[in-house]
Amino acid sequence: MINEDIPNLSAFDDESLDKAFAALATQANDDAAALDGPEAVEAFRLEWLGRKQGRLNEVSSRWLKAAPPEAKKPVGERFKTLKELVERLLDQASSAGPTDAALAAEAIDVTLPGTRRLMGAEHPITRTLNELTQIFAALGYSVGVGPEVETDFYNFESMNFPPGHPARDTQDTLVIANQERRPLRDRLLLRTHTSPVQMRTMESQPPPVRIIIPGKVHRNDAADATHSPIFHQVEGLCVDTNITFSDLKGTLDHAMKALFGSSVKTRFFPSFFPFTEPSADVQISCIFCGGKGCRKCKQSGWIELLGCGMVDPAVFAFAAEKQPAYDPKKISGFAFGMGVERIAMMKYGISEIGQFYAGDMRFLGQFV
Ligand code: DAH
Repeated sequence: MINEDIPNLSAFDDESLDKAFAALATQANDDAAALDGPEAVEAFRLEWLGRKQGRLNEVSSRWLKAAPPEAKKPVGERFKTLKELVERLLDQASSAGPTDAALAAEAIDVTLPGTRRLMGAEHPITRTLNELTQIFAALGYSVGVGPEVETDFYNFESMNFPPGHPARDTQDTLVIANQERRPLRDRLLLRTHTSPVQMRTMESQPPPVRIIIPGKVHRNDAADATHSPIFHQVEGLCVDTNITFSDLKGTLDHAMKALFGSSVKTRFFPSFFPFTEPSADVQISCIFCGGKGCRKCKQSGWIELLGCGMVDPAVFAFAAEKQPAYDPKKISGFAFGMGVERIAMMKYGISEIGQFYAGDMRFLGQFV
């Protein structure tokens, strides 16, 4: 059927050749324009490029091979151009995009709202820890950490809680099971406060020391609105020659103002901790009523926030076993410790400590 389309040539002059090849080019363009799917494209390929019966094959044998020697070149050139045209048309037809219906199915509606990317944010506890750490870093304190699984020695004994001392009962302790065969001081427990890192720090470096220790602590306490068996503390320790109680007062007064605003006042009440002597509880003027008295401060105008004191010589004596420079006759120091949850709850007006750990995005999303 196809072969009849290609007549033998009677003349091989340029004009006749141009005319004959132009007719085929027009034909190829028309055929290609009518292609409406993969099957038609395949038919087009066979019709033009088929090895045995394709038109170009026929043109090659009827026009090129039959040409007299002097016409071989002009026929060959035109043949090459035609072949390139057919191949290009075929390329375009087979790579032509999908139909309108397929396009419509894939179309993107740019007016639809996009997929919202959730912004990460610091957890309010992390934020408060960092804020406290930075306040002290600005005073020249370095940051220290210690293990959460601690020995009885560091958690209690070296902090001047001797075995059997009633002060141990104030920190209901979670202990690691099956250690009865070990000496008491080596038994493992979950640290009840960050204070043992004071001792670890002093053992590892001579004075002067200025260190701030953020960390997680554990107590066997029932959870309620303001207590959690796992919570966070920030501990501080400053040891040098001639450190006095007024250094302690000035440092903590500055820190509380940096944390809660410059109008906050502090006052120091006598207290007891085994590892400090004298010891004090620090109160700040109520940040909710400014000191006038309200429900939050139980009408007193003051809120108790942290413990502190001058490092007890007995603590220095433990440190001096490894670092003789901790000689209480030559150096002195102060320490303090505070609960991070309590501070974060005050700062952000949170009434349930459990909110910090619930992983509820409605709560956490407020801190972005
Ligand atoms: N470790 C104490 C506690 O958990 C807090 C504390 C009080 C730490 C006074 C100190 C300090 O360093 O001087 O209750």
